[in-house]
Amino acid sequence: MPIAEQASKTSLDLTWVRSQFPSLHQIVNGRPAVFLDGPGGTQVPQRVINATSDYLARNNANTGGAYETSRWTDRMIAEARAAMGNFLNCDAEGIVFGANMTSLTYAMSRALGRDLGPGDEIVVTLLDHDANFSPWKALEEKGVTVRAAKFNAADCMLDMQDLARQITSRTRVVAAGYASNAVGTINDVGEIVRLARKAGALSYIDAVHYAPHGLIDVRGLECDFLVCSTYKFFGPHMGVLYGKREHLERLRPYKVRPNTENVPQRWEWGTLNHECIAGIRACVEYWEELGRRTKPSVGSRREAIVVAHAAIHAHERAMTEKMIAGLVAIPKLKLYGISDPLRFDHRCATIAVRIDGWTPLQLATKLGERGFFTWDGNYYALNLTEQLDVERTGGFLRIGLVHYNTMEEVEGFLAVLREMVRA
Ligand SMILES: Cc1ncc(COP(=O)(O)O)c(C=O)c1O
Repeated sequence: MPIAEQASKTSLDLTWVRSQFPSLHQIVNGRPAVFLDGPGGTQVPQRVINATSDYLARNNANTGGAYETSRWTDRMIAEARAAMGNFLNCDAEGIVFGANMTSLTYAMSRALGRDLGPGDEIVVTLLDHDANFSPWKALEEKGVTVRAAKFNAADCMLDMQDLARQITSRTRVVAAGYASNAVGTINDVGEIVRLARKAGALSYIDAVHYAPHGLIDVRGLECDFLVCSTYKFFGPHMGVLYGKREHLERLRPYKVRPNTENVPQRWEWGTLNHECIAGIRACVEYWEELGRRTKPSVGSRREAIVVAHAAIHAHERAMTEKMIAGLVAIPKLKLYGISDPLRFDHRCATIAVRIDGWTPLQLATKLGERGFFTWDGNYYALNLTEQLDVERTGGFLRIGLVHYNTMEEVEGFLAVLREMVRA
C-alpha cells in the first residue's frame, strides 16, 4: 500500500465523516450517488441541515428587536462571525457576510473604485474565476487600467514573473485566486500578497476554491481582503469576505442611511440570510469536530481546524495520486494542469480533462447516468478556457474530489470512464 494511502487511513476517520453527510448515501437512478462535483458546491453535514431548519422553526426573526427570538438571532450571528473568524484566523469584526462571493466582490470593487480614476491600475490574472475578474474590469468605466497576468499553458501555473512585471507603483489592487476552480492550481498567495504590499497596493484574494482543501490564515498571509463561499466547504449557500479592520473602517460602502456605521455590519446589505448564517456556525463546528476526533488533545477551535485540514490533506493527496495516475493512462485523454506527483503541492484535488472524440458534456452526461456527478464547461473560468482554446468546444470535464470522497469511488470512476471510452 502506498505511504500516502496508509496515512489517509490512519489520520482521517472516513467512516465518521461519511456518516455526517446524509446525501452521500443516496441511490439515484438505482445507483449509489458519487459526488465529484464539490467545486460547484459541496454536500452538507446533518448538523448544518439541523441548524438551518431549527433556526426557522424556533428563532426566525429580524435583528435588533426588543424580544427574545430577535436577541437570539443577534447572538447567533455574532457566534457565526466568531466561528468564521476561527476558520480564517481573524477577529469576528473582520468577517462580512453576503449572498455569495460574486456580490461581495462587486460591492467591494465599487467601494474601492470610488477613489480610483485615470492613472490608477488594477492587476488581475487570467487563471481566475470571472468573479475575481469582471468586478475589477468594470472599473475601466472610471478610467482605471486593468492588467491581466498570464499563466503557463503547459502546467496552468500562474506566471509569477509576468505578475511581478504587471505590478507597478500605479497599481492600487492586486486581485488573484488562491486556487483555480477549473484546473486545481494552487497559487503562491504569500508571494502575491508580498508583491502587492511592496508596490503599495491592496491584495484581494479569492479563496473560494481553496477553502475546502487547504488551511487559510489571513493573519499569517497579511492579505488586505480574502473572500470565500461557505457552500464550497460544507456549509450553506452564502459568501464571506474578510477585510482588514482599517480598510473596513476607512473605505465607504454604498449603503442605505439607517444601516449602522459599525464595522463589519456597514458592509452588509439589507437583511441577511439568517438561517444560512446558523448553518455557517454549524459548518465551522463540523470542521472543529473533525479536528477533535482526529486529535482529541487539541486545544482551541482554531487548532482543531488546523488538525482537520492536515487530516484531509493526506486523504485528498492519496486520492489525487490515484485519480491522476489512472486518468493519464487512458488513451486520448488530455489532462490540463499539473500531472507530475512531485509537484502536487502546487495543485488541489480538482482535475480538468478532455478526451478525443467526446465533448465534456457527453462525458458528464454518460457519467451522470452511471451515478458519477461531475461537471462540464468553463465553470466561469472563462479567460482560462479561452486561452487554452477549449471554450468553443465545451470546456473541460471537471472531476472534483473533497475529503468525503473515497478511494473506492476513485477506482469506480476510473473503471467506468475506461469502459465508456473503450466502448
Ligand atoms: C474560484 C471561485 N471564485 C469565485 C466563485 C464565485 O462564487 P459565488 O458563487 O459565491 O459567487 C466561484 C464559484 O464557483 C469559484 O469557484
